[in-house]
Amino acid sequence: MPDVQPNGRRNKTEGDITAEVLARFSETPDPRLRRIILSLIGHLHAFVKEVELTEAEWFQAIEILTEAGKMCSDKRQEFILFSDTLGVSMVVDLVDHRKPEGATESTVFGPFHRLGAPEMPAGGNIAPYDRTGVPTLVSGRVLDLDGRPVAGAVLDVWQTQSNGLYDSQDQSLDGLHMRGKFKSDAEGRYLIRTVQPVNYPIPSDGPVGAMLKATGRHPWRPAHIHFVVSADGYEPVTTHIFDRTDPYLASDAVFAVKDSLVCDFVRHEAPEPEASRLGIAGTFYTAQFDFRLTPASSAQATVMDAQRRLAALGSKGSLQGG
Ligand code: BEZ
Ligand code: FE
Repeated sequence: MPDVQPNGRRNKTEGDITAEVLARFSETPDPRLRRIILSLIGHLHAFVKEVELTEAEWFQAIEILTEAGKMCSDKRQEFILFSDTLGVSMVVDLVDHRKPEGATESTVFGPFHRLGAPEMPAGGNIAPYDRTGVPTLVSGRVLDLDGRPVAGAVLDVWQTQSNGLYDSQDQSLDGLHMRGKFKSDAEGRYLIRTVQPVNYPIPSDGPVGAMLKATGRHPWRPAHIHFVVSADGYEPVTTHIFDRTDPYLASDAVFAVKDSLVCDFVRHEAPEPEASRLGIAGTFYTAQFDFRLTPASSAQATVMDAQRRLAALGSKGSLQGG
């Protein structure tokens, strides 16, 4: 249809709308917000035009986001799941945590961290109620980029039980389980007792699950243990260690695997002194991993600050479970 009608009036075009919206936001006082919102509008409008989105599809998207919002509580975060399964979390991770050579790489935070994990001594067991998992000792050092020990670093650790569920997903559990905060000693050493990590599917009973199904994707994550390692004067690192033998390493539902985070979980059939000292009688696994921290550049907002805000929002919501 021509832009100018016979009566001389000019029809509004798609380009007019985009230009008008951009102009309306162009006076945003905060320069960072201005940059973000102008770019977001440009990309969103271009996306709608490129795929020729129908009104029905746009309303379907709004229904999906509404459903995602309704599922969120202090135990379920469907928007983090969307961000993770669309690969956005990993792009943000790579853009925001460009690390110098040798520093431990970061990866997704995920939706299952909980504040308030108990402080544990070296060798403390984060899996005291897990009756089926194979005992596992994870040890290593926290070091700086020159290989010097970082003493007093805090390792906030979390993992699923051997049934593949986090404590918050398991109706039979009340309270925190499979979580602990450990401190590195004067030589930077840490030691954690847990159970062998297992692969597990991310929650797929909501809109994220529907998206995975509709797009022919599986929901599985390779076996891993989560860490946030922090120390005064260093950038905290949010990361995992992965089991090298896991079949899902190459197709993680949330794209979080990095080669440097894959490690060997070594099986031992007979007791050995350290395991015996910690009360492990039969078969057990060991894994070793050293964390290398980057010096802090500036006081940055951390993922834990965001976690506190999300937790406060969740606890105000009425939905539980998930
Ligand atoms: C997790 O590893 O806990 C996780 C990460 C992203 C999405 C779902 C689960
Ligand atoms: Fe996990």
